[in-house]
Amino acid sequence: IKRIGVLTSGGDSPGMNAAIRAVVRTCAFHNIECTGIYRGYQGMIEGDFKEMGPRSVNNIINKGGTILKSARSKEFMTPEGRQKAHDNLLKHGIDAFVVIGGNGSFTGALLFNKEFNFPVIGIPGTIDNDIYGTSFTLGYDTALNTVVEVIDKIRDTASSHNRLFFVEVMGRDAGHIALNAGIGAGAEEILIPEEDMGLDRLVDSLKKSKASGKSSSIVVIAEGDRIGKSAFELKDYFDQNMPEYDVRVSILGHMQRGGAPSCFDRVLASRLGVRAVETLLDGNSNYMVGLLKDDVVLTPLEQAVKGKSQIDQELIRVSDIVSI
Ligand code: F6P
Repeated sequence: IKRIGVLTSGGDSPGMNAAIRAVVRTCAFHNIECTGIYRGYQGMIEGDFKEMGPRSVNNIINKGGTILKSARSKEFMTPEGRQKAHDNLLKHGIDAFVVIGGNGSFTGALLFNKEFNFPVIGIPGTIDNDIYGTSFTLGYDTALNTVVEVIDKIRDTASSHNRLFFVEVMGRDAGHIALNAGIGAGAEEILIPEEDMGLDRLVDSLKKSKASGKSSSIVVIAEGDRIGKSAFELKDYFDQNMPEYDVRVSILGHMQRGGAPSCFDRVLASRLGVRAVETLLDGNSNYMVGLLKDDVVLTPLEQAVKGKSQIDQELIRVSDIVSI
């Protein structure tokens, strides 16, 4: 391998820049050329490439977002799109690529590898932490800290006004952000897709808390929750059926994807970036690099894509106990 391409794909996440930096510098360390591919797979199709060296990634370890920009490319899902991408890689002398992204990005990489026998390695980058084969994805820790910081602020006003807040957080189909940030922020209840709490239990629990002397409450709702009601629909339900609660809704949205990466995400990105390049240089392909029990480990991409990251049941129990 003489030249490795690096791209960020799908939803951005804090720590992606630190991973780009690690990939570029590991290439330089091993005397390998490195090409930055802009706008994910779309840039690969359009030949949006730039030569990168150790100095092109100065001062980015602390930056949120991704200097390479990101996209969700529909064209890459077509054989014609992938053919164009392959032609461009060959034209630029790129022998392998590292893709930093989530499940969709890894599925694309696998397809590409199958069609062209092209060496690929994935680095898990998403705030959702929904990828099998790693306990942490890049950006998850930062997003948790962002959510906790914001809910702390919401708590101030909730408590001043004796209000009940429904706070919706991201996570797509997974409840990791909601569960962990919910515990960290001291939420009353946490609604996640992996566990159907049901409206009755939620109402019951809030009534009990009120009876025990709590004058304000925060309920964290994962965006993918299956209780069947959005945060606003829940507010309507309470307004109509339990007017004794003064309810407000806060949808945190994309602020959860921004901001400077935490130290944890920067170190994780650096470790995974180094291992991704060295895995390719060892002659291996089709792996995702991840972190399990503080070791950097390889998981076959196929498994990473098919497997499901599990919610820690113990956390649900802890949350139930400490929110009493
Ligand atoms: O996968 C990251 C994520 O932020 C999810 O939590 C969310 O459901 C989705 O991306 C939002 O996507 P978009 O930025 O395309 O609206």
